[in-house]
Amino acid sequence: MKIVAVCGSPRKGNTEFMLKRILTQAEKSEISTDLILLRNQRIEFCDGCLSCDSSSVCNKRDDMQMICSKLEDADLIIFGSPTYFDNVTGMMKNFIDRLEFLLSQDKLKEKRIAFVAVGQDSNKSIESTIGFFEKFANIASMIVVGDLSLIAKDYQDIESDDEKIAKIDEFTKNIIN
Ligand SMILES: Cc1cc2nc3c(=O)[nH]c(=O)nc-3n(C[C@H](O)[C@H](O)[C@H](O)COP(=O)(O)O)c2cc1C
Repeated sequence: MKIVAVCGSPRKGNTEFMLKRILTQAEKSEISTDLILLRNQRIEFCDGCLSCDSSSVCNKRDDMQMICSKLEDADLIIFGSPTYFDNVTGMMKNFIDRLEFLLSQDKLKEKRIAFVAVGQDSNKSIESTIGFFEKFANIASMIVVGDLSLIAKDYQDIESDDEKIAKIDEFTKNIIN
């Protein structure tokens, strides 16, 4: 089994910690893992040409080709994002826009996906972020196997909270089984 996680935070904070914790726990079950930090990737904006709908090719040459091939190979994909204004970060949204290339070929269809999101305010705000991810999964005809929302504001809020770490570990067990 192979898990590919994609982190949409611009900083080394809570979302990255959650995803790393999930992947470290999964590795204990002999699962191979890969973490893609979007902040370290070169991903241009979708320019809306829609040529991928007819030619199945994206004209842009950046890190999306490498990322898309990893997503195609994955048995389980995990998307993680902080909540910014009740939604995913711009970085994550830009990445998702560029996935039209894969969706147009049904390449993610029936693949399993899970979501994690953090936010400082309230579960309602974070649920809105998860809601956006769910809409994407629905459009892509993917199978959602779970989601986890945690409240956190500063860089290490989750890392320093044993109860939240226990929730991440429980979540991991559920999505890998
Ligand atoms: C521009 C911006 C907008 C934000 N908007 C929200 C929001 O709408 N709701 C919320 O709960 N938290 C909001 N936050 C707080 C972040 O979600 C929170 O700090 C989170 O822990 C960041 O995750 P990270 O450590 O993985 O980067 C916002 C933060 C920033 C920088």
